[in-house]
Amino acid sequence: MQADYAKRWSLWFAVIAGLVFCVFPSLTRSQPKPAGDTPPAPDISSYDQIAPVLLGKVKFQDVLAKDKADKDAVMARQTQLLQERYNLTPRPDPKLTMTRGKPIQVGPTARLPEGTTWEKLAAMSSDEIRDKGLFPKGFLPLPHPKQETGGMVFPQVEIKQLPRLQRFDVDFDLPEQFLPEFPPAMFLTSRSDLGDVSQGKLITIENFQAILGGILNSKDLEGFRLLVTQFPQQQFNATADRKTEQAAGMQGVACFDCHVNGHTSGATHLVGDIRPQSHRRRIDTTSLRGVNIQRLFGSQRALKTVEDFTEFEQRAAYFDGDQVSASAKGINPLERGSQVHFMAEVQDLLDFPPAPGLGVDGKLDPKKFAADSPEMRGQALFFGKAQCATCHTAPFYTDNLMHDLKVDRFYKTQTINGLVATAQGPIKTFALRGIKESPPYFHDGRLLTLEDTVEFFNLILELKLDAQEKSALVAFMRQL
Ligand code: HEC
Ligand code: HEC
Repeated sequence: MQADYAKRWSLWFAVIAGLVFCVFPSLTRSQPKPAGDTPPAPDISSYDQIAPVLLGKVKFQDVLAKDKADKDAVMARQTQLLQERYNLTPRPDPKLTMTRGKPIQVGPTARLPEGTTWEKLAAMSSDEIRDKGLFPKGFLPLPHPKQETGGMVFPQVEIKQLPRLQRFDVDFDLPEQFLPEFPPAMFLTSRSDLGDVSQGKLITIENFQAILGGILNSKDLEGFRLLVTQFPQQQFNATADRKTEQAAGMQGVACFDCHVNGHTSGATHLVGDIRPQSHRRRIDTTSLRGVNIQRLFGSQRALKTVEDFTEFEQRAAYFDGDQVSASAKGINPLERGSQVHFMAEVQDLLDFPPAPGLGVDGKLDPKKFAADSPEMRGQALFFGKAQCATCHTAPFYTDNLMHDLKVDRFYKTQTINGLVATAQGPIKTFALRGIKESPPYFHDGRLLTLEDTVEFFNLILELKLDAQEKSALVAFMRQL
């Protein structure tokens, strides 16, 4: 009898397994391995790391002690990587400044591989550069300073004013000279007559009313209040899995902790919606200046409205895309009609900085620049030989689309400090208006100066520009 049952069961099992295989053959196939020579890094997602703390299996004090003990090694690893990739010597040009006077760094910072020059590299094909491993390391995807954990990390210059943003496990990595000025100026489309309305201050929950009262209406002031109010976030919150030593004052982060004065402090993060952890890309905080003329939001998500992105930030990005920990830490769902709209409307008033060299069509005013000036020659290249305007169209220098630059033609898949550097897919064409004020460049901040971006595109688009043409392009971009 029992043997009969066993036989009948195994027959049923075989039939069901066969059906599953026929209907869902992909279930039984193993995942394709990424191409390249480096084995993928072990993958423990940020959620796997915090779940034991949330469940009370691991104590906050133990995590704190271990993370603190590890911190020097984490930072030494990242510093060494940055030294290998870039020449970080400050090279400010005192004549070139951002709105409030911070000098702009000049010259490419990416280090060239031994024995090459920019010209030699530009003469090679992408296959040759990839096969010989000659793509400058500074042009490869940049990992988060602690890729294995990720999360929001704020620059030291900001932490000086807002000590609540200090993490115990990791510090920000890029030197301050390659970041936007802090605090930055703030311009409003509705009151362009006023110029910078920030009064040179970091606008926070404490002073926003004093600074903006009488300039914004009460609805926009309420939107602004929400943008400077702290809400719970994965690493910054009052629960035991936080990455800040104190729980007191830890109601989370404010939108404008990253998008300082509606621009950016350069704070970094990992994109929320990619798994495994080792594939999640570093993302440099984008400026919110000029979001009103844009149609796609997020470098890779392409959400369609500022309203959607505002909701998405707090519901998903704040919690690394992990629903479970979001509930445990006190997610703050914003109400669409009375909160999201108010926040979005006031973001839509944030303007680009003035560009006195541009005419109404967004091109250089010919009365202000000689025909043979570097700026004018740069503009001609931008719209001509250098092909930049194919994607960065005037007047705001974005086509509001995504493009796959296929940078992975130039390198083999490799693991860099825990990040698997592989194909990146389509990325949003960032607007270039006001671009000199928002280093570092690219979605992950891998390019530190505008000169780096020109050397980068000279290779990617196989342009073969000469030294004069490259500096003319940079001169033009500084006018935008
Ligand atoms: C880590 C600090 C950080 C905080 C806090 C933050 N953001 Fe962002 N924000 C980013 C980053 C990084 C991006 C770029 C995302 C990407 O590349 O996919 C971004 C993108 C955006 C964008 C799209 C901009 C564009 O040009 O595509 C909007 C809009 C935005 N944030 C609004 C908000 C709002 C509203 C809040 C508060 C609810 C907020 N952000 C909080 C870092 C932050
Ligand atoms: C095929 C479309 C395309 C062309 C052509 C193109 N770009 Fe871009 N550009 C992009 C995309 C997409 C990004 C975002 C890439 C990323 O973040 O990974 C970008 C980013 C940039 C950035 C950094 C923006 C920021 O906010 O970080 C600069 C500067 C830039 N491009 C300048 C140029 C110049 C100069 C040229 C011409 C030599 C050029 N681009 C040609 C699509 C293009």
